[in-house]
Amino acid sequence: MSEPTPTEETMANSDSGWMSWFTAELTGSPVNCILLVAIVYLLYKIFKSDEVPGPSTPIEPPVPPMKKRDFTLKELKELGDGTSGEGRILVAVNGKVYDVTKGKRFYGPGGPYSCFAGRDASRGLATFSVSAINEEYDDLSDLKPSEMEQVREWELQFSEKYTYVGKLLKPGEQPTSYSDEEDDDEDDIEEIPRHDDVNKKDL
Ligand code: HEM
Repeated sequence: MSEPTPTEETMANSDSGWMSWFTAELTGSPVNCILLVAIVYLLYKIFKSDEVPGPSTPIEPPVPPMKKRDFTLKELKELGDGTSGEGRILVAVNGKVYDVTKGKRFYGPGGPYSCFAGRDASRGLATFSVSAINEEYDDLSDLKPSEMEQVREWELQFSEKYTYVGKLLKPGEQPTSYSDEEDDDEDDIEEIPRHDDVNKKDL
């Protein structure tokens, strides 16, 4: 066997140097280790549910589109946590409720974001936490401007991917009565003033 040329040797050395630096960075601090485990776990959860169903996997009929309506927090949970008859999943973001049933691999049982099914996910999305879920109505008034910005960005993402089905009602708020024409119109999402808009108006 011939001796490695200096260039080959340098490349091998720099490769292994980079690898050991990378490994040391990943495992060097407990925080990095925890983050690494969390990333691997979430990626596993997301891509595991992407697997092609085998011949024995029953094909579920698609859930029919939902008639537009508003929801109290309780109704959101009852009708949209994925356990009701049709298995529909609803998620509220910034006061707007989206039918995310087609994202069942994310929000369905065992999915990485199943905690958001039938819930208001705004705070969790704003704070990048899957455990920040309120049982009571959350007006988000204590969120920082940067966190509210996150909420709006998520809201935009949801509106592009999923169907808007109605508003999340504040306590005591009356539901809107939607006509059938309105039901077909996807562009009629009403602007809902949240605390930040209200604050702006107050200035
Ligand atoms: C460890 C860090 C994380 C990793 C590696 C990760 C990874 C991913 C990936 C790869 C996707 C896209 C999947 C696809 O479109 O096929 C995704 C989507 C998403 N992630 Fe994460 N995620 C992480 C943390 C979080 C956290 C902490 C939250 C919320 C608090 C979150 C909420 C979401 C949501 C809502 C979606 C969109 C699902 C949809 O399209 O409906 N992620 N994540």
